[in-house]
Amino acid sequence: MLDTLIRNARLIDGSGAESRHADVGLKDGHITVIAESCDQPAREQIDATGLVLAPGFIDAHTHDDMVAIDRPAMTPKITQGVTTVIAGNCGISAAPLIVGDGPVPDPLNLLGGPERFRFATFSAWSEAVDAAGPACNIAAFIGHTALRAAQMDRFDRAARDDEITAMTAQLREALDHGALGLSTGLAYPNAIHAPTEEIIALAQPLAAAGALYCTHLRTEADGIRDALDEAFRIGREAGVPVLVSHLKCAGVANWGRSAEVLEAVDAASESQAIGCDCYPYAASSTTLDLKQVTDRFDIFITWSEPHPDKAGRMLKDIAANWETDLLTAAARLRPAGAVYHGMHIPDVERILSHPGVVIGSDGLPEDPRPHPRLWGAFPRVLGYFTRERKLFSLSTAVRKMTGLTADRFRLKDRGYVREGYYADLVLFDAEQIADAATFADPIQPARGIHTVWVNGQMALKDGKPTTSRAGRFLPRQPKDSDHERR
Ligand code: ZN
Ligand code: CU
Repeated sequence: MLDTLIRNARLIDGSGAESRHADVGLKDGHITVIAESCDQPAREQIDATGLVLAPGFIDAHTHDDMVAIDRPAMTPKITQGVTTVIAGNCGISAAPLIVGDGPVPDPLNLLGGPERFRFATFSAWSEAVDAAGPACNIAAFIGHTALRAAQMDRFDRAARDDEITAMTAQLREALDHGALGLSTGLAYPNAIHAPTEEIIALAQPLAAAGALYCTHLRTEADGIRDALDEAFRIGREAGVPVLVSHLKCAGVANWGRSAEVLEAVDAASESQAIGCDCYPYAASSTTLDLKQVTDRFDIFITWSEPHPDKAGRMLKDIAANWETDLLTAAARLRPAGAVYHGMHIPDVERILSHPGVVIGSDGLPEDPRPHPRLWGAFPRVLGYFTRERKLFSLSTAVRKMTGLTADRFRLKDRGYVREGYYADLVLFDAEQIADAATFADPIQPARGIHTVWVNGQMALKDGKPTTSRAGRFLPRQPKDSDHERR
């Protein structure tokens, strides 16, 4: 007896292959049958006529380390069809760091206040995830800036040897307990003084563990080629794959450089493993960074600690109101969050279209006025960029959010609709799917997602989240398992 039988689906299996008609049966959290027609009895039958059945989407880039524990319904994810999130990106991770009363160093504050930093080890964090029972699965990197915050008294210098030794011990503990690898956010003020050698030293345990190096580059603006070269060098010297986070060409002076940047990625890919993720918008969002303040594009303030009343306004309007310049106004608003409308849409489209690029939202779940990517990234790719702009086929779009992502992050038995794989699935209407979240109104669930299963349990039914919370912490899969060779 099957638990669930999904009948008459248009199946897109995550491999990039064309869709086919199929019945899919689930039992004990796994996919047990895929057939043209299946008559096995099932406790629940779903008629999927006219709908696409795909592997649940894997969000390659998130900052969901703490919402997975503190707000485990994870509604922005489940309503998009996301069944697994990758956390710990950009050098930012919840563990291994206890902050106590002090202010949370930028950009770790994207995860929330000091009360969020209560896990001295990665395993304490992953156990808390499983105790909380999030709606989606979660796998995570250890953040370089979190390690620095745990071991260093100040950030405006390179780590000393004794500090690197202490950070390495924490990283090893994390790798022993299933962390995906090390992430950096080298553009941020609290990591920018770390020389390349500091990262290379820290990256040494990664290769033996079968782990990854994931990086928010030292710059995404004028110096992006050098920043890519630095990332590639770290990967080579550590002997591990490099994942470049939210690849983009930032700043008006760099509009049009995506072809050159992708050529650099392709050239390096001939001799080492490189992957990239991208979100489908021409605006970025993070903490308010003085280096990115300019009058050449709009900067929208999403929150400000000293001036909460200024949130929801353009920086230029705030500066005009204060009768000061942009930089002075920005300095006064910090710590703060911002959306920067600093990209060119043809660059975004070219990067999204590259065959090595997977989809990651980079959604910021703590932001009171979040960039709309938090609620809309995946349906925006499937609706706007696939159906309307026709950047790529629906099978290719699905592959960029499922199978390719699972391969990249070495997630075992996920990302494909295959017999024996976990039953992480999404059923959606390819004609209706669309993002509803906008910059003006960002907290809006997407349209066109019908049903979502996580580990065989229904997490979304008829477009509405259920109370099921079947997600779990996903440890990095052991090295050289057969998954790699498939
Ligand atoms: Zn980042
Ligand atoms: Cu990020």
